Amino acid sequence: MLEQFWGLSSKPFLNTPSLDFLFESSEFSESYARLWYNMQDLRGGICVVTGEIGTGKTMLSRALLNKLNGDDRFSTALVLNPQLTPNQLIKLILTEFGAVKKPARSKYQLLEQLNGFLLEEYEQGRTPVVLIDEAQMLKKPLLEELRLMTNFETNTTKLIQVVLFGQPELNKIINRIPQFKQRIAIRYHIEPLDLDETTAYIKHRLQCAGVSLESVFSADSLEKVFQYTGGIPRVINTLCMNALMAGFIRHTRPITAELVQDVWADLEGR
Ligand SMILES: Nc1ncnc2c1ncn2[C@@H]1O[C@H](COP(=O)(O)OP(=O)(O)O)[C@@H](O)[C@H]1O
Ligand SMILES: [Mg+2]
Repeated sequence: MLEQFWGLSSKPFLNTPSLDFLFESSEFSESYARLWYNMQDLRGGICVVTGEIGTGKTMLSRALLNKLNGDDRFSTALVLNPQLTPNQLIKLILTEFGAVKKPARSKYQLLEQLNGFLLEEYEQGRTPVVLIDEAQMLKKPLLEELRLMTNFETNTTKLIQVVLFGQPELNKIINRIPQFKQRIAIRYHIEPLDLDETTAYIKHRLQCAGVSLESVFSADSLEKVFQYTGGIPRVINTLCMNALMAGFIRHTRPITAELVQDVWADLEGR
């Protein structure tokens, strides 16, 4: 078995946002710190995190969600697929917050329900946070709806915080809507990992699965991994998973640069 061959206690390179494998890269740490600062102190209303596909936006959203859920000063609503009408979005947010037993029908009533919930939470000393993944799919009317939501406020504080996670085109969409852009308190673009952090990332994931980096990858094979993947975590996972498989089949241990090259050619269909 593959895991036995490598001495692994679990699968180290699954493309799932499991926090057990969370690697606190400099990009992760900085974006996370900024978002957390907003939640705790700034309470600016809207935060936007962008990054190319596979750079770790969903992972970041899960880490933040987990932190917020473990803190009784916050309540959370997670929206995973925002291809919705404005009414559906408000209903989903109400449901995710567990705000009402039955969402109302009309827009006016839905907003009344939301406002009522937000005021209750405020009185309880809690900050409701809406996290929206794949936010590049938000249509203009939905962005407008979210902007209006952050108008719910007391004299001193916003009653709701919204965090958008999306691919780079989200920036273009937002930049075309000045009234939305002006409301953004925190904006961060997640860059891919550099060579050192790509190595550290792989090392961390292997350690989480119970083995050392050196027993699995040669130094020059790691350079290849970085070269091919550009430091994008999802691509690193896929390449490393395939390299583990190829190494197992060919009995090549540790994995060589040549093997990584072969595996990459296969993955690229060359
Ligand atoms: N900081 C991280 N620590 C550990 N694994 C990560 C990290 N960022 C990304 N990954 C891995 O890469 C995969 C793709 O990341 P993901 O967050 O889904 O990217 P995005 O949402 O930007 O497309 C995740 O499923 C996870 O396995
Ligand atoms: Mg994602």
